[in-house]
Amino acid sequence: MNTAPITHIDLTSFLRDPYPALAQMRVHAPITFVPELNATLFTRRNDIHVQEKRVDLFSSDQPEGLMTQLMGQNMMRKDGADHMAERRSLFPALSPRTVHDHWKSIFEAMALDHLRTLAPKGKCDLVRDYAMPVSAAALRAITGLESMSNVDMDGVSQAMIDGCSNFVGDPKVTARCERATRLIDDHIKFARTDPPEHSALKVMQDAGMNDDSLSANIKLIISGGQNEPRDAIAGTVWALINHPSQLAMILEGKATWLDAFNEYARWMAPIGMSPRRVVQQHTIEGITLMPEDRVFFMFGSAGRDEAHFDAPDTFNITRNTQAAISFGAGPHFCAGAAAARCLIADIALPLAFKHMKNLRLTAPVPFSGWAFRGPTKMPVAWDT
Ligand code: HEM
Repeated sequence: MNTAPITHIDLTSFLRDPYPALAQMRVHAPITFVPELNATLFTRRNDIHVQEKRVDLFSSDQPEGLMTQLMGQNMMRKDGADHMAERRSLFPALSPRTVHDHWKSIFEAMALDHLRTLAPKGKCDLVRDYAMPVSAAALRAITGLESMSNVDMDGVSQAMIDGCSNFVGDPKVTARCERATRLIDDHIKFARTDPPEHSALKVMQDAGMNDDSLSANIKLIISGGQNEPRDAIAGTVWALINHPSQLAMILEGKATWLDAFNEYARWMAPIGMSPRRVVQQHTIEGITLMPEDRVFFMFGSAGRDEAHFDAPDTFNITRNTQAAISFGAGPHFCAGAAAARCLIADIALPLAFKHMKNLRLTAPVPFSGWAFRGPTKMPVAWDT
């Protein structure tokens, strides 16, 4: 029997702001079973950092999991050699070199093109009108699904994310996710005859990946590559507007946009957790876990771990964020990390503050989510 102490949560509060509950767990029950999520949560940074690498104990292969059921079995739901083979096939599209030599200038041209129509307007919802289309345009290029509109790209990504975190089993959420995956498959079929150079579709197809895996991995890239940059772009802008002295440090060259993004991702992890399936009975820190138990490695909680970060609830771009594990800490470390850093820190953040002068909030900014977290809207204005 799973002997982890039980912690109850209020799901509505957890969705609105998971951090107070996670702080309590880190102190009183760092490995704890949460009945409302039917999962054992690991909340301390070091436990996650160590245990995530134990693939003999914590498997990513979760045949009954929502992601596999709804999107097919992608590389993030495989272990060992099967995982590595697919990860290697994708690497040429997302390697730091490809990002630097190929994608960076494309990302910049797309963002500038978008700003040409947005900047004269003087106001917008920064999530919907800037972070979303900039992320979507980048992702259409990276995946090779150029026939998809920005709005559809964002919509299918959100539908899959909602589907994968639909732990309460809402049938409407499932149906929307299924419509999204069908639309993606239609676009894959259309693009497969002549996929763009360096795109994920092209490199995985050239590597001989079978159709099911190719489709599942394109869906993974979309579910992981749209919402997170979108939420991080808007969220980091919001954090910097709320901390003008830190924004000034960047503008004066005393800190970097990457410092701001790294700190934001530590503080408000766009991906709050990654699930695993327990493979064999074992005991960690006196707590016995049983085969088939569901475990969540809580990356968002790791970023607030008091043992690693002073005043962890404070946004501070001058802190050392190296201990943060916002992109993961094991063999499934985010395959798109270089692309994400480039898009967010090299392109989207500097261009936003350059082309939207005196950027300011015009209404409160609501945040939502614990598995995936970000601002849901962000009304802003600027000088024209
Ligand atoms: C702010 C942006 C992003 C964040 C915070 C983020 C975070 C993560 C996290 C936490 C994981 C799971 C790691 C684990 O379980 O150890 C992951 C996996 C992954 N991410 Fe990202 N991600 C971001 C952007 C992207 C982008 C832009 C792409 C692709 C274009 C991408 C593609 C992937 C893929 C393919 C995996 C699975 C890797 C594997 O299983 O080996 N991500 N990401």
